[in-house]
Amino acid sequence: MNVGGSSAPFSIGILLSGTGRTLDNIVSFLAENPELGHVDTVVSSRPGVLGLDKAAKYDIPHRVIPCQQPEDSAAIFDHLDQIGIDFVLLAGWLRLLRIPERWSQRVLNIHPSLIPKFSGKGFYGSRVHKAVIEAGESESGCTVHYVDDVYDHGRILLQERVPVQAGDTAETLADRVFQAECVAYPKAIRLLAASRPTN
Ligand code: GRF
Repeated sequence: MNVGGSSAPFSIGILLSGTGRTLDNIVSFLAENPELGHVDTVVSSRPGVLGLDKAAKYDIPHRVIPCQQPEDSAAIFDHLDQIGIDFVLLAGWLRLLRIPERWSQRVLNIHPSLIPKFSGKGFYGSRVHKAVIEAGESESGCTVHYVDDVYDHGRILLQERVPVQAGDTAETLADRVFQAECVAYPKAIRLLAASRPTN
């Protein structure tokens, strides 16, 4: 494991449940910045999702590990331990995890709102952006945060803001927020790398 005391590239695990656009973002960022890390496993909570096809296209080992209940996540973290993963990035992962103590502060999520607004159980996908527009907000954005055992709850690492524009629909706002996500997760990886002690 490489969470401190070394400047070797991070071994990163990705957890997803859907289309894998966030996986695309991370893979393309790390292709340009290989000194920061590499994605060594993709775990999906569901079979047959596009994110698994993308993992195959990128030649990243991938598997399905269902997570119907938080306690099912033990099998996921055992898998991550076995291959020596340093950090996990949730990338459109929709299941509640139970984070083992040894994984505390080693799992990050990106959420498409400015937490604590429009976050928590039931706030995912277009529901978030629809609620932002209905509330008359003038800005939205995304949040990268550490994951604990509560939805969208752990310590915030960074946020990126975008304006809500007149005439926005959930789709147009989602696109703008996703562009911000494509900036935010790479920034988060750089922050983690910068906080590693060098020796
Ligand atoms: C993004 O909106 C992100 O904020 C959330 O999942 C969405 C990406 O999912 N966590 P995907 O990569 O398109 O499956």
